[in-house]
Amino acid sequence: MGKKLLLKNAHIEGIRYFETYRKHGGYEAAEKALKMKPEEILEEVKTSGLRGRGGAGFPTGMKWSFLAKPEGVPRHLVVNADESEPGTFKDRYLMEFLPHLLIEGMLISSYTLGSNTSYIYIRGEYSWIPDILEEAIEEAKAAGFLGKNILGTGFDLEIYVQRGAGAYICGEETALLESLEGRRGNPRLKPPFPAVKGLWERPTVVNNVESIAAVVPIIEIGGAEYAKIGVGRSTGTKLISACGNINKPGVYEIDMTITVEEFIYSDEYCGGIPNGKKLKACIPGGSSVPIVPANLLLKTINGEPRYMNYESLADGGFATGTMMGSGGFIVLDEDQCVVNHTMTLARFYNHESCGQCTPCREGTGWMYKILKKIEKGEGKMEDIDLLWDIQRKIEGNTICPLGDAAAWPVAAAIRHFRDEFEWHVNNPELSQTQNYGIANY
Ligand code: NAI
Ligand code: SF4
Repeated sequence: MGKKLLLKNAHIEGIRYFETYRKHGGYEAAEKALKMKPEEILEEVKTSGLRGRGGAGFPTGMKWSFLAKPEGVPRHLVVNADESEPGTFKDRYLMEFLPHLLIEGMLISSYTLGSNTSYIYIRGEYSWIPDILEEAIEEAKAAGFLGKNILGTGFDLEIYVQRGAGAYICGEETALLESLEGRRGNPRLKPPFPAVKGLWERPTVVNNVESIAAVVPIIEIGGAEYAKIGVGRSTGTKLISACGNINKPGVYEIDMTITVEEFIYSDEYCGGIPNGKKLKACIPGGSSVPIVPANLLLKTINGEPRYMNYESLADGGFATGTMMGSGGFIVLDEDQCVVNHTMTLARFYNHESCGQCTPCREGTGWMYKILKKIEKGEGKMEDIDLLWDIQRKIEGNTICPLGDAAAWPVAAAIRHFRDEFEWHVNNPELSQTQNYGIANY
């Protein structure tokens, strides 16, 4: 049984409510933190090695230490709950079942950063969750953990929940800030980073829900103890939302020392693949990270087992590895068609592009059109090379990472599954009625 830090109490009935959460040790970490100096908490977070859980894996303590502190200018903490990456639903689980863990994490983090007004920006499609969060905020306020002069420390904190309107791009931190300010969610050029010029041009830390929740156990057990869990630079625990062709889809907390094979096949986690089917591939970090075929997923190029952590998943770079990303673990069995799957993703990115940069606005549309043509059996061999060329021209040439996120799945699909693209070109009639997976196994 893996170590549980975030979900250790998730099974307790009523843990969503303040009284039950408190009875099981809730807000004790906040009480401890409010007796510490902000610099001491920052040191604990740095020592813990916590890396941003939204996808980029940027060290949280380092991000906090970049926060500018100009005299007389308010600072803000903004929690990014715009969880829209296909295959990713771990933050939804945390907010729905453990809202006070997030609020407690926000209290500790806001105190550390000097934010008296903090925000949770939540995706519009999570329509039932803002009510849960707002109820938790009210409960925490009534108990003296939010509002004015919290626990007599002189520290004030208000938390507001802002609903998004359903755009994937608003999960990009600067688009989120634009949206929070009341404008269209167009990403800004970085630098300046939000830590220097964020919400209303004030210094702002934008952190993922899970990152902020993780601050609670870090204070509970101490940064050094937290850093002992996991391996290398993959410290602590990580939530993984698992879906696709597995027997037990759901949200799992792992300690990043288990292998990918164990995660997919053990009963503690995904419980294997239904109907005895073989594993074809997996996208381990949400739809934006490269798809990896089974042989490279279970072992690295050096024949070492591949582990569920930042370093091992990326081993070999984009040519053979992938990324931990947001922890949205999507499993494809032998019946799935990679061309069909890639086309679905291309349609998504094309739809979600904000349209500011030409390579992304035009390129995502072209990729979708070409993939649709190939998938329907109407493509030519040159189309595969054209597709490769287009994704190369998008990557690295855009304002925000959505361009890269659209390009990488296409690149990885062609790199590892070119035979499937060629099968569609060579079998136009079969392509109309069957997918590659079913026709070939
Ligand atoms: P990034 O690598 O550009 O930045 C990471 C964080 O570090 C940002 O908050 C940035 O402001 C900060 N940062 C980096 N360098 C800095 C510096 N020199 N000074 C101050 N701050 C600095 O990545 P980004 O754009 O935040 O996230 C991209 C990731 O988001 C992708 O890897 C993707 O996996 C993930 N993603 C997750 C989604 C979800 O639903 N969870 C949705 C879409 C993408
Ligand atoms: Fe908009 Fe795409 Fe450019 Fe990002 S990369 S700013 S989504 S056009």
